[in-house]
Amino acid sequence: MKLAARAGRITPSPTLAMAATAKAMAARGIDVADFSSGEPDFDTPDPVKAAAEAAIRAGFTKYTPSSGIDELRQAIIDKLQTDQGVRYEKSQVLVSCGAKHSLYNLAEALLEAGDEVIIPVPFWVSYADQTLLNDATPVLFPTREDEGYAIDAQELERLVTPRTKAIVVNSPCNPTGATYDRGTLERLAELALRRDLLLISDEIYEKILYDGATHTSIASLGPEVAARTVIINGVSKAYAMTGWRIGYAAGPKDLLTAMANIQSQSTSNPCSISQKAAVAALRHGGAFTQTMVMEFDRRRRCMIERLNAMPGVHCSKPTGAFYAFPNVSELLGRQGPKGTIATPTDLANYLLQEFQVAVVPGEPFGSAHHIRLSYATSMETILRGMDRLDTAFRQLT
Ligand SMILES: Cc1ncc(COP(=O)(O)O)c(C=O)c1O
Repeated sequence: MKLAARAGRITPSPTLAMAATAKAMAARGIDVADFSSGEPDFDTPDPVKAAAEAAIRAGFTKYTPSSGIDELRQAIIDKLQTDQGVRYEKSQVLVSCGAKHSLYNLAEALLEAGDEVIIPVPFWVSYADQTLLNDATPVLFPTREDEGYAIDAQELERLVTPRTKAIVVNSPCNPTGATYDRGTLERLAELALRRDLLLISDEIYEKILYDGATHTSIASLGPEVAARTVIINGVSKAYAMTGWRIGYAAGPKDLLTAMANIQSQSTSNPCSISQKAAVAALRHGGAFTQTMVMEFDRRRRCMIERLNAMPGVHCSKPTGAFYAFPNVSELLGRQGPKGTIATPTDLANYLLQEFQVAVVPGEPFGSAHHIRLSYATSMETILRGMDRLDTAFRQLT
């Protein structure tokens, strides 16, 4: 069968693939230290589960309005007003099956063949693939590790062409854990206004911050900036609800209407029960997130310290999200039991096969020098895994 060309342009999500391999090994009884998963190990908070149970018992199990129930859209509007200081109408808010789905609706509504989207590197894997899936071109803007992965708007502007439609802003960033300061966001906003670009602000890790870092939404910089920003967010990370699949987008009305139409013809509404659960999370989940982030912070400190003590490894300190992104370039070129470890992918395979440690190689994030480890896993796994990594790196010759 001849498939559509777009299907051949992308590969399955490498982060999900590595997580699935690690889980399959664990299911076979293999003791895997799994750092591949991009999800909190915490259980979904009880009040959220209770809201879902109540929804099931009340028979709230039918189709809902395609764009999401009013109660949830209102909770999102209230959250964006309180946290970001930006006021949205209901018609500007769309609830989807996870933030990934929100981004996909956005890509479908926005992009055409030949369009370009500027993506700072390193980047979360799906931005580029979703752009490709919609016949457009990801334009990668490299940032520097020794500059904290900061985005220089002046440098970035060199990549803007008449075909540039949007710039992706992901703060805190997956995979680097970097957060952008207000000055950086102001310069990006000024650029977007001047060159007539859309800002795609992925704020899914907004509440997972350390060392006094704060989150500023670029949309909060003024009404004219909000008018050309789409905020993407969801409940997956902040409330340990990855499996419930609720994300949302808020932005300009014409764009959000187009996205809502696309959703109504593709998936229809996100799960009715999950929507009720998301209302409870947004209204009452704050204390849970704080507790979780305190624990992530403890694990972050431990993992970064251990990684930096390993030979050939250098790891900068993330100020947001829950990933360490160590630079392993000194280890590349060394010999493992099956030959040269030339790339982060070779290293990840070596770690999984010889030491049962699951990490994600840097290549799909746009880096040939790093691997990504999630510290949203137990301290016991971190300690066990760091011991194994230390041995694994020392055994490379
Ligand atoms: C930066 C970023 N954006 C969006 C998502 C999608 O989250 P979800 O679809 O679970 O809401 C993820 C998940 O890993 C992510 O890391």
